[in-house]
Amino acid sequence: MVNTHRKLILNIYCSAIILPQICICSQFTSSSNDQYNENPGVFPVATNGEPFPWRELRLPTKVIPLHYDLFVHPNLTSLDFVASEKIEVLVRDTTQFIILHSHGLEIMNATLQSEEDLRYKKSGEKLTVLSYPAHQQIALLVPEKLMADLRYSVAIDFQAKLADGFEGFYKSTYRTLGGETRTIAVTDFEPTHARMAFPCFDEPLFKANFSIKIRRESRHIALSNMPKVKTIEREGGLLEDHFETTVKMSTYLVAYIVCDFASVSGTASSGVKVSIYASPDKWSQTHYALEASLKLLDFYENYFNIHYPLPKLDLVAIPDFESGAMENWGLVTYRETSLLFDPKTSSTSDKLWVTKVIAHELAHQWFGNLVTMEWWNDIWLNEGFATYMELISVNVTYPELQFGACLLNMLKDFLSEEKFKKGIIHYLKKFSYRNAKNDDLWSSLSNSCLESDFTSGGFCYSDSKTTSNTLTFLEENVEVKDIMTTWTRQKGIPLVVVEQEGRLLKLRQERFLNGVFRDDPEWGALQERYLWHIPVTYSTSSSNAIHRHLLTSKTDTLYLPEKTSWVKLNVDSNGYYIVHYEAHGWDQLIAVLNQNHTLLRPKDRIGLIHDAFQLVSAGRLTLDKALDLTHYLQHETSIPALLRGLDYLESFYHTMDRRNISDITENLKCYLLQYFKPVIDMQSWSDEGSVWDRRLRSSLLKLACYLNYAPCIRKATELFSQWMESSGKLNIPTDVLKIVYSVGAQTTEGWNYLLEQYGLSLSGAEKNKILYALSTSKHQEKLIKLIDLGMEGKVIKTQDLASLLYAIARNPKGQQLAWNFVKENWTHLLERFELSSFPMRIIISGTTSHFSSKDELQEVKLFFESLQTQGSYLEVFQIVLETISKNIKWLEKNLPSLRNWLLISI
Ligand code: BES
Ligand code: ZN
Repeated sequence: MVNTHRKLILNIYCSAIILPQICICSQFTSSSNDQYNENPGVFPVATNGEPFPWRELRLPTKVIPLHYDLFVHPNLTSLDFVASEKIEVLVRDTTQFIILHSHGLEIMNATLQSEEDLRYKKSGEKLTVLSYPAHQQIALLVPEKLMADLRYSVAIDFQAKLADGFEGFYKSTYRTLGGETRTIAVTDFEPTHARMAFPCFDEPLFKANFSIKIRRESRHIALSNMPKVKTIEREGGLLEDHFETTVKMSTYLVAYIVCDFASVSGTASSGVKVSIYASPDKWSQTHYALEASLKLLDFYENYFNIHYPLPKLDLVAIPDFESGAMENWGLVTYRETSLLFDPKTSSTSDKLWVTKVIAHELAHQWFGNLVTMEWWNDIWLNEGFATYMELISVNVTYPELQFGACLLNMLKDFLSEEKFKKGIIHYLKKFSYRNAKNDDLWSSLSNSCLESDFTSGGFCYSDSKTTSNTLTFLEENVEVKDIMTTWTRQKGIPLVVVEQEGRLLKLRQERFLNGVFRDDPEWGALQERYLWHIPVTYSTSSSNAIHRHLLTSKTDTLYLPEKTSWVKLNVDSNGYYIVHYEAHGWDQLIAVLNQNHTLLRPKDRIGLIHDAFQLVSAGRLTLDKALDLTHYLQHETSIPALLRGLDYLESFYHTMDRRNISDITENLKCYLLQYFKPVIDMQSWSDEGSVWDRRLRSSLLKLACYLNYAPCIRKATELFSQWMESSGKLNIPTDVLKIVYSVGAQTTEGWNYLLEQYGLSLSGAEKNKILYALSTSKHQEKLIKLIDLGMEGKVIKTQDLASLLYAIARNPKGQQLAWNFVKENWTHLLERFELSSFPMRIIISGTTSHFSSKDELQEVKLFFESLQTQGSYLEVFQIVLETISKNIKWLEKNLPSLRNWLLISI
C-alpha cells in the first residue's frame, strides 16, 4: 500500500528535475550591514512590539556556531520537555545581535559569556530576547557590541510540548501485545525542523559539533547520533546519558530518541557497530535489516574508499513516521514498513523496499551527511544521488533484486563506471565535513582521471592507445558541467527523433511534451530555446557493438558503419530521454520483436514498451501501433519486460473501469484473460522461485482476481476461508497474501474479520496488505468507516491516512467518496499535516489525478481556486490540473482506436 507513496516520492527525486517543495529555496540574500541602529523603522516588529533587527529569511553570517552543548529532558507522561543549551559561536564581524532559528519554543533565559572578550568574562550576562515568529527567528540583543574574531558562549534555557505531528521533537505511540499503549519521543528535522527542538542556526551551511545529554526514566533508553559515554544518576531516580561529541555536521541531521525499544547488533568489517531497534514485540522482525545494513555498510566503505566516520550506526523503526525514512547521522529513522521484515507476512516486494531504503539512507551518510549541499536548492542532488546509489549498491549486494535507473545513471554510462566512481570519491574527499554545490560535483567528475589517462593542467587526456568509446569524449575535453546543466536547469526531458535513410541516421531533438500535440497552438512556444546535451547510444541489427554520440545540437546526421535493417537507440535504457522512430522505424522494431525478441536486449525491450506508450500520450504514435508492439509479450522471456507491458495494459483497464466504459472494460478483460491465460494458469499459490518469478506471480494473480477470473477467485476464497477458520494462524504464501485478503474483503464477514485482524497484527507489512484489501470493498459505508478510523488515528494511524485515501480513490466505488471527503475536510486534514508535506501532496494528487472528464476537471479547478484565494498554493495543484487535462485528451484521441483494436484482437 505504501508502494503508491513510494512511487510518488521516488518520482520526485528520480526525475531529478522537480525540486521538492521547500518554500525557502529562493532566499539567498543576507544583508551584511548592521542597519538596525541606523534605521529601525524598516525592520519587522517582534512579538513584544519592538523592532526585530533582521528582516531576511536567511540568517546573517556574522556569527557562526562552532559547538552546541545540548541538554534535553523529555517527560513522557506530561508530554513536554525542558532543555538547555550552550552554543559556542565565532563572531566574524562586529555585531549588536545574534539571530537564531526557534519555532514554538518558550525561551526562559538567555545569557552570554566569553573567555576571549574581557567585557563578557563574568558568566551570565543576561540578554534581551526578541522573537519574530513569521521567520521562525529570535534575536539575542547584547548590551555591548560583540567583537570580530572572538569566541562567545550563548546559554539558553527553553521548554516546549512534545509536538503532535511528525516534525521537531514529537511523540509517537505503539500498542504492546498485551494491549498497553506506550509513548516514545523522537526527532525528525529535515529540512527546517531542528528549530522546533532547540534554538539553532538551522541552515545546512552552519556545520558544528554537538555534545548531547538526555535525561530519562530508568524504564527507557536514550539514543542519539553518537555512542553513549556515560550515564549519571540524577534526583528522583532519573538517569542522564552523555553522548560523545559529534563530527562537524548540519543541524537537520541531529537526532535523539527516548524509548523502550529492543535491538539486535552486529559489527561491520571496519569495526562499526550496527544496531537495529524496534518496539519490543517487533524485535523478531529486525534481523533482515541487520544483515542488509551490515552488507551495505561494507559495500559503501569500500566503494567510496572513505570510512564511515562514526563508531556506531543505529537504524530505528518508529511507529509514527511521516515519510519513508530519514538519514540522521548515526541514528537513521524509518517508518516500520521501511525497516522491519516479517518472514511470515512480508512479500518479496516488501523485502526489495526495505533493502532499497536502507541502501538509500546509508548512501546519505556520505552523500548528504559528510558532504552537504550548501542550500536546499541542490537537495535534488542529495536525493538523486542516494537514489542512484541504491541501484549501484543493491545490484552488488543483492544481485537477485536488480531494478531500474535515472539521470545520474546516464552520466555514469557516459563517463564509464570507473571514471564516475573516481569523480565521486574525489568530490567526497575534497568536501568532507563541508558543503558543496552542484557544480562542485560536476567539476570533480570532469577532472577524474584514470590510470590510462595522462594529465595536464588539471585535465585528463586519453592515451591514444585507449579504444574505449567513452574516452573519445575526453579527447574533445568535454566538461561534465556543460552537459549536466542542460539537464538540471531545463524542465522536462528530451525526445530524440530518429530516421534511418540507408546508411544515414538523422537525429533531431525536441522537448518531450506529454499531452501536448504537435498541432496544438502552444506546442511551438513550449519548444523554444530548449536544447540538451544528450549522450546518445545505439545498436544495430548488424553487430552487438554500442555506438556513442553526444548530441549537442538540434539536428545531426550520423553515418552507420554498415548497412542495417534496424537501429535501436538508448542502449539498455541508460539514457534519460525518449526515442521516436520515424518512417518505418517502429514497424521494423515491432517486426524484430515478433520474429525473435531476443535479438534486442531485455532492457531495450522494456525501453521500447515504455517509449511507445509515452509517445501515444504525446500524440506521436497511434495507440494501435503501441498495442501491436505488446503482441510479442506472449513469448517474452524476460519477466521485467513482461511486467512492464502488463502494467500498461492493466492501467488501461483501470481507466476504463473507473470511467464505467463497459464495452471496452469487458473486451479488455476478455483480451487480457485470453492472452495471458496460459501464463496465469502456470502460476502456483506459493512463495517458490526467484525474486522475479515471485513478482510475476503476485502481479499475474492480482490481475486475474481483479478481472474476476473464476479459478483465481476460487483459490483465493478457499485460502481465505482456511485462514479465517484457523483464527488467522494459517500461513498464507506472502506473495499472494494481498490477493487473498482482497478477495476475502468482498464479503461483509470477511471484511469485518480483516478489520479485526488489522487491529491485532504486529506486522506493518501485513497491516498494509489488510488495509489495501479493506479499501477495495464495493460498499461505500465500509469505505466511509475506514476514512473515519483514519481520521481518528487510533486503529488506523494518521501516518497511514494518505495511502488509505489514495487506495480508496483507486477503487471505482470509492473515487468520488475520497475526493468529496478531501474537499469537505480540508481544514481537518491541515490539522494533521502541513500543507507542503509529502502526505498532503499524496492526498491531493492521489484523489484527483485519475479524473478524466471535463466536469471533473472543472470541479477540481474550482476547489483549487478556492484554496488559492485562501492563500494556499502548491505546485501539485498545477501538476494535477495538467494531468487531468492530459487524461481527457488521451481518451478523446485514443478511445476509438482502443475499441477497434480490441474488436480485431479478441
Ligand atoms: N532525506 C530524505 C527525506 C526528506 C527529504 C525529508 C526532503 C525532508 C525533505 C530521505 O533520505 C528520503 O529520501 N526518504 C524517502 C525514502 C527513500 C527510499 C526514497 C522517503 O521518506 O520516502
Ligand atoms: Zn533521501
